[in-house]
This record gives sequence, structure tokens and C-alpha cells, in this order.
Amino acid sequence: MDIETTDFLIIGSGVAGLRAAIELAPHGNVLVATKDMPKESSTEYAQGGIAVALSDEDKVGIHFEDTLKAGDGLCNEDAVKILVEEGPERILELISWGAAFDKEGTKLDFTIEGAHSRKRVLHAHGDSTGKELERVLLNKVRSYPSVKKYPFAFTVDLIIKDGECCGAYILKDRKITAIIAKATILCTGGAGQIFARTTNPMVATGDGMAIAFRAGAQLEDMEFIQFHPTSLYSQYAPQFLLSEAMRGEGAILRNINKEPFMKNYHCDAELASRDIVSRAIISEMVKTESSHVYLDMTHLEKDFVRKRFPQIYSTCLRYNVDITSDLIPVSPAAHYIMGGVKTDLNGVTSMKRLSAAGEVACTGVHGANRLASNSLLEGLVYGARTGSTAYQSSSDIKNLTAVKEHVSEYTAAYHSIPEHDEIRMTLRKLMWDRVGIIRCGESLEKARKKLSEWAFILDKVFYTRRELELKNMLTVAMMITEAASLRKGSVGAHYRSDFPEKGQDWQKHIALSREDDRIKYSPA
Ligand code: SIN
Repeated sequence: MDIETTDFLIIGSGVAGLRAAIELAPHGNVLVATKDMPKESSTEYAQGGIAVALSDEDKVGIHFEDTLKAGDGLCNEDAVKILVEEGPERILELISWGAAFDKEGTKLDFTIEGAHSRKRVLHAHGDSTGKELERVLLNKVRSYPSVKKYPFAFTVDLIIKDGECCGAYILKDRKITAIIAKATILCTGGAGQIFARTTNPMVATGDGMAIAFRAGAQLEDMEFIQFHPTSLYSQYAPQFLLSEAMRGEGAILRNINKEPFMKNYHCDAELASRDIVSRAIISEMVKTESSHVYLDMTHLEKDFVRKRFPQIYSTCLRYNVDITSDLIPVSPAAHYIMGGVKTDLNGVTSMKRLSAAGEVACTGVHGANRLASNSLLEGLVYGARTGSTAYQSSSDIKNLTAVKEHVSEYTAAYHSIPEHDEIRMTLRKLMWDRVGIIRCGESLEKARKKLSEWAFILDKVFYTRRELELKNMLTVAMMITEAASLRKGSVGAHYRSDFPEKGQDWQKHIALSREDDRIKYSPA
């Protein structure tokens, strides 16, 4: 096997990974490994924006309160404090690196989204905020010769020696290379692809969570999945996010009979938190026996809509929907996972030399439900903190020779599952139907049973990205189902029809880790 060494290994190249790389670049060699092109991440597709308390009418304290409220009592307040307090500095730094956020005259233009009490969401090129962030961060990374990118490199597993993470085994060009590093940082994003309906890109298959779990790290809050209320619904079009900012600018939800309904569910109507809006949509779909509802922007000025949402406008038009004059068919879709690899406030996980930042991590900053547009900010703030701590606390691997010997003994019998695409499809439908927006003991039990039929996949090693992804998707699906079964109550984005109240001990967090080949649960 080929062996490479680097000071720092970052897995994933969205906002958190790139921001961590920028922090580490002056201090050693950094290798950024991604399973696809470097820009292929959830960041690239983020539309609505990035929340930050920078407007004249806002204060970090108000951003703090809104974030806690959305998190429904389960946020780690220290993590939120860091997010809102360090956020403005991270954004100003990004602007100094060339980020072009939209302006109204000479001032930054802030919009409002669900559950925000102030206009605080910055956006770029109307609805392509993530693309702008990715562009600026990639440019900045390019200015450091110490950072090397390793595209189309799939992380199969972490290298664990004497309980420490010493890098990762990477599959590239059908060959495994061991990358030995003083510090490894997971920035692999989320897991939306395990649900049949998702706004996430194809790369979001929960890889970082699964490899951390296999290595023995602790994960937390896995039952909390955020479903975005409005994704384009058409059998001819891909599932495409219709930004919450559209409702922020005045779009109205209507049922299939064209009746507005959100006021019947919450006084904040279209701008209630995402879990409330998603469940209201499902309820209307059930009542009217339809597969979707409509998002209506037809009352807004056409020119404004085209300019404010150019990407959404042109994408929908490609599928014959003119958002300025047609009702847009929408239905909810899995969007974000609040849980992940448990870290402290500096991205440090339960495993030595392993850190995590961004959606893959769980600092507790989002609690049971993330406030809209807080995730890009999280990537910037916690990516920087994690990079900085990984450098400050890094030390040479004591016995590098022993690690090299250990990796050179890595052997794997490669398997292939000819029906892997069929299993992937069934798994995604199962998770959507049984572990989706509304769950109950019976649906979760059915999911557990079906998932366990595929357990034979978990201990195999594969040679292809699709099969390796399936193994990771199954691992994460099992963790989500386990945590959702354990939480017998409804909090934030986790809703159980058999336990609609919060229930006893609702403030506990559910931590999961691996014990032999089982998922071990510990209340945290
Ligand atoms: C959106 O534009 O609606 C997504 C923003 C987010 O999830 O934070």
C-alpha cells in the first residue's frame, strides 16, 4: 500500500473544511481530501444566505435568543454564544477576502427568514450565497502552497492505532492509500441522501458520521433531522430547494385548493420555524389527499422576483414553472442534520487527534432545530476554531514507525453487492416513510427491522464509491432510527405522533457509540 504523510488531513471541502484549511495553512502541510470535485459540497448549493447580527436593527444578543428559541431548549448555550459573537468578525474577514454580498445602495442588504425576529440574513447574487462563499474560500486556499487538494478520493476508514486517529485510508483510482496525519478533521457535511426526498446534493451520504462511528467516536442528537418545507415537487424535475428567503420576501403557501393555510397553524404563518411549517404542509396534503402544496409569489413584483431569485427563477423555468406567474408545486424534503460527531467548542471529538466541524459535527449549537441560515456561519466560525485548535494541540505521532507498520498490514477482502442501487433506493424510501417528518414507535420498529436485514453490508469493504456510500448511509440510518426510537417525546424537529409532548427527561441528549458491532446508547 502507498503511504503518504501530512501534518493535517481535512476530509471535505465545504465552508468548514476550507475555513479550517486556511487556519492551518501557515502551520504545516495540509491535505484536503474530497470524494468528488472540491466544490461539490452542500455549501456550493446553499441559496438563502448566512445569518449574522451586523445590521443596524440587530444585536448579537437577539441572534442568540432566536437561535435558542429555534433549538427548542436543547442548544448548548456556550456554543451559540460563540457562533453569534464570533460570526460578525468571520463575515467581515470574508468580505475582506472578496465576498460580494448583495447590497441596498452602499449598505449590506439583509433579508428575513423563518423564526428570525430581525432581518439578518446576508445573501449573494440573489440566491447563490453558498457558491460565493465557496468561490472566495477556494481562492484563498489557492494562495497557500502548503495546501494540497486531493479530489475524487473517498475516505474508506480512519487509521486508528492505540486508540488515536492517525489519518485515513483513502480510495483513489481503485487503490487504497494510507494518509498519516498528526491531526485529522472531518468536514464531510450531512446525510440528506438517506431520505428519498432531500434538498442535499448527491455527496451528502453521511460518510464522516459513519467512519467516525466505526472508529469508535461518539455521536449525539442523531434523531434531529430538519425537513425544509419547500422543495420543488414535480415528477419531471429534480428535487430542488426553494429558499426560505422566498417566504421571507412574501411568498405564501396554499393548499391544492389554492387556499392559504399557515395562519391556521401558527401566528408567524409562513415564517414559523421549519418543523411547524413542514408538519402543517403534511397535514394539508393529508387533508386534501394531495402529494404537494403550492408556493405562491404571483402577487410580488415580477422584476423583483426575477432579480432577487435568479437561480431559482431560471431553474424552475427549465421545468416549465414560471415563478413570477405560476403557483409552484412544493413539498418538504430532508435538509439538515442537527446531530453528528460529538465535539467540544473547539471541534475536538471523543477520539484523540480527531476533530470535526460543520454539519458532520455536533457542538449542540443548533439544539433540536437549526435556525435558518445559521449553518454557513457555523461552518465559518467552527471551521476556524477547529483548525486553530488542531494546530495548537497537535503533536508528532510518537511512534510513526509503528503506525507505518500498522497501515502496511491493512488488508481487506473486497466485496461487491450487485443490487446496491436497489438497496439504496429502498433504504431512502424506508427512511422517508418511516423515520421522516412524523414518526411513531410502530414506524420506527418497522424501519429498524428492515435496516437490520442489510446489516451484512456493515462489515464489508468495497471498491466503489457507490457501495461505500451505501454502507455509510446504512450506518447513519441505523443511528438516526435508534435515537428516534429512544426519544419518546417530541422536541424541535423530532416529532412522534405517539408522544406529541416533550415528555419526561426531554432535556437529555442521546449519545451513541459503537460497542462490538452494536450501537451503544448513553444519555449525556
Ligand atoms: C434556504 O435558503 O432556505 C436554506 C437556508 C438554510 O437552510 O439555512
